[in-house]
Amino acid sequence: MVRHDVVVVGAGLAGMRAAIEASRYGVDVGVVSKLHPTRSHSGAAEGGINAALGNAGEDSPEKHTFFTVKGSDYLGDQDAIAVMCEEGPGDIYELEHMGAVFSRMEDGRIAQRPFGAGGAPRTAYAADITGHVLLHVLYEQLVKSGVTVYEEWFALDLVTDGDRCVGLTAWDLLRGGVQGIEAGAVIMATGGLGRIYRGTTNAYACTGDGMSMAWRAGVPLKDMEFMQFHPTTLKANGVLITEGCRGEGGYLRNAEGDRFMFNYAPNAGELASRDVVSRSEQTEIDEGRGVDGCVLLDLTHLGARKIMTVLHGSRELAMDYAGVDPIEEPIPVRPGSHYHMGGIDADMWGRTVMPGLYAAGECACVSVHGANRLGGNSLLETVVFGRRSGAAAAQDVRGNGSRAIFSPSAVRVAERRIRRLLYNFDGVRPHVLREQLADTMYENAGIFRTAERLDRCKADVHELRERYSDGMGVVIQDKSRTFNSDLIQALELGSMIQMADCLVTGAVARTESRGAHSRLDYPERDDENWLRHTLTSYDDGAVALDYKPVTITEHQPAVRTY
Ligand code: FUM
Repeated sequence: MVRHDVVVVGAGLAGMRAAIEASRYGVDVGVVSKLHPTRSHSGAAEGGINAALGNAGEDSPEKHTFFTVKGSDYLGDQDAIAVMCEEGPGDIYELEHMGAVFSRMEDGRIAQRPFGAGGAPRTAYAADITGHVLLHVLYEQLVKSGVTVYEEWFALDLVTDGDRCVGLTAWDLLRGGVQGIEAGAVIMATGGLGRIYRGTTNAYACTGDGMSMAWRAGVPLKDMEFMQFHPTTLKANGVLITEGCRGEGGYLRNAEGDRFMFNYAPNAGELASRDVVSRSEQTEIDEGRGVDGCVLLDLTHLGARKIMTVLHGSRELAMDYAGVDPIEEPIPVRPGSHYHMGGIDADMWGRTVMPGLYAAGECACVSVHGANRLGGNSLLETVVFGRRSGAAAAQDVRGNGSRAIFSPSAVRVAERRIRRLLYNFDGVRPHVLREQLADTMYENAGIFRTAERLDRCKADVHELRERYSDGMGVVIQDKSRTFNSDLIQALELGSMIQMADCLVTGAVARTESRGAHSRLDYPERDDENWLRHTLTSYDDGAVALDYKPVTITEHQPAVRTY
């Protein structure tokens, strides 16, 4: 059993930023992560991080706030969005002072490029490997801060004393065995769930574990039905080709060579919001103007120098995975699931309804993205709300004198469960159910949704839940206790099915189209009935729905065109 004042689960940008901040308050901090920190999915973020620095054109936090609210299709909470946009510039300069090497303008200031629907060139970047650069900088700071990192510990369940979160259990991948981790406060920063979809930009590890832990512990999840499809991913494997390509002036063309986006977004064209661009591409493909299930991202007019300076990562990805050199020919791309706007219901300090439990980053829903996130706002969210949740958790622990009790029986219960899983000899391999889940989510809960498809999806998810049977429907071939990735896949599958159930249940109920939730049978936004957040709670293994109001401060919902 280990103990820390604050324990952060997850070591991507949000988790590391939270841990660094908490440690500044003089409390003892531990980080638990199923991956080595620098292998976290934040490292896959490419095109940049938004903040109203105003270096490349006139900008302000107010403008950033307005375009984020509009981009969210008015579902984002406007007080939280304003906080993110006001505090963003300070966080960028702090990252720079930590050592982040941002790309520069001629005069030496941080370079910024336009991203879709942002209203200004606001996205600061390190070429097209921004997440990778930031992840390494924060890791250096994490090491420097003296925080204890438990690498390759897979979080299993939150532990409560009936009221307050007092820690968690985790499986130690390297040594084998369940560990109890007692904590004054726990911050969930476990990232997204993109792997519940086929053809995603998300890493293999993005399986919704943290959201599912919170949900099972009785903490509601918010706006789970909103899944973002990124417009430019590679056909073969869903690898991301950054929006920065369009920010730098890239075109989208159909099979006839037309820049079709102006038919859908007459003002913004290729730089409309992601939900609009993805729907437009899918329409071109569905109506027969695609190229082998894709449209074409044309960078050839940008020239070799620009591509090799600020888009070199995208060029390498296109050459390695699509066999195309974008200096010479367009890249075939299609929409792919990319970012989950929903997550653990949390406030602007990361607080959840459970005392002692906080959440930040993609696993949380604060909500600053509403129904559709702007590109570049997710990295910003990780550092702003990572910092805030770290501060809040540290202060909470310092103010909470009485130590809560972590019952060791939680470790025994988890050990028993793992043993049952390991010594089950009936069922299918976990990947079989995992692939079936990803297929039905992609086919039936994708860019365009209908009641019929969503009902089918829900039925499929429930059938998979029965077959999974709390893990007793899958066979783990590797019976060893050390570095058993087979076991981890079986455990992740349980979370994936639960989170898919939450997503699709929310989607069936929401009979309108808003942002990334596009219902062909309800094509209009319906503010009268649906300008509200969905809350998804655990009800004895099933999903219960509830709703709560959206915070509107300044910007009344208006027609959203680009
Ligand atoms: O396209 C991109 O570079 C992705 C950025 C983001 O999702 O924020």
